[in-house]
Amino acid sequence: MDTKVFDIKEINDDSFSEIKEAAETLRKGGLVAFPTETVYGLGADALNPQAVKGIYLAKGRPADNPIIVHIGSKEDLKVLIKEKTKDIEILADSFWPGPLTIIMQKSNRVPDVTTGGLDTVAVRMPDNPVALELIRLAGCPIAAPSANLSGSPSPTKGGHVIQDMKGRVDIIISGEDCKIGIESTVLDVTGPIPTILRPGMITPEQLGSALGKRVEIDPSILIETSDNIPRSPGMKYIHYAPKAEMIIVQGKQDKVKREIQRLKTIREEAGEKVGLVEFGEKSYEEAAKDLFSRLRKLDDEGVDVILAGGLDSSNSLGLALMNRMLKAAGYKVLRV
Ligand code: TXA
Ligand code: MG
Repeated sequence: MDTKVFDIKEINDDSFSEIKEAAETLRKGGLVAFPTETVYGLGADALNPQAVKGIYLAKGRPADNPIIVHIGSKEDLKVLIKEKTKDIEILADSFWPGPLTIIMQKSNRVPDVTTGGLDTVAVRMPDNPVALELIRLAGCPIAAPSANLSGSPSPTKGGHVIQDMKGRVDIIISGEDCKIGIESTVLDVTGPIPTILRPGMITPEQLGSALGKRVEIDPSILIETSDNIPRSPGMKYIHYAPKAEMIIVQGKQDKVKREIQRLKTIREEAGEKVGLVEFGEKSYEEAAKDLFSRLRKLDDEGVDVILAGGLDSSNSLGLALMNRMLKAAGYKVLRV
């Protein structure tokens, strides 16, 4: 497949006609990758089963893994869900556009391929002007998982999407680097207690205070045990594992630093190429923006082992980052 790449940093007369062409492609059942504030998405018309099947093919993704539906205005929620509860209204008003995905009971307009056969649907309104313009011009809700090949890190730069998706989709809109860098917080509001299925930039504290009630965190987020059956189907796949072995060193910062240096020396003396993921004095926001990009780079460099400094998961954003790092490391943690 011939893939068109549109370089769009801002909306102006030239880029507007390209966004229009991309929207037309979506309306006709084609595939368009586009930037969002979290990670790049790979979009198709969410109400067109044939188009959504194309996403699974392009990603090489298992077809029972449901896809997030992106909307361009809060009004668009109506056709997708059964009932707009008070909680849903509060969440949409407080956090959209933004990095929050809400799991709700679906309407019968949403096809099974989009939700992986579930009777719930995941929806969010992205906070990116190009994405919003694209969705509004397409005039349909857009199903979009992260625009990476299944098994590689979510893309946070246009170059990552081109690397994974060129030749597999109709159009790639290559825009600004994603300003958040990790995927949205996924919150299930279909049960009695709102539950976070995937941690992200929007924290349990923020959600709890907006809703005025307790919000739970799914226990399988940090620990992988056989009795923790994942409620979010995406959680059962190894999302991303680098080709290299990856070890997370967890403990007090100075000890971690020393242990990483010690291991690095041992490995290098054994002739191995070592890559480090240490965020040091960086804020967790900066770390989030950088994490996936660093992992991709280390894979490209062909390192044999990645040594990563663990983060404080009692901090909400630290938890979101550790969730991704633990998956990448196959839950291999060394405590010092
Ligand atoms: O930030 C994001 O959310 C990005 C951008 C592109 O919007 N998208 C993204 O999509 O990360 P994806 O497909 O890579 O992850 C979707 C997650 C998966 O863990 C999936 O299992 C979960 O959301 N999910 C989707 N629909 C669900 C549902 N009905 N019930 C439970 N979990 C669901
Ligand atoms: Mg993904």
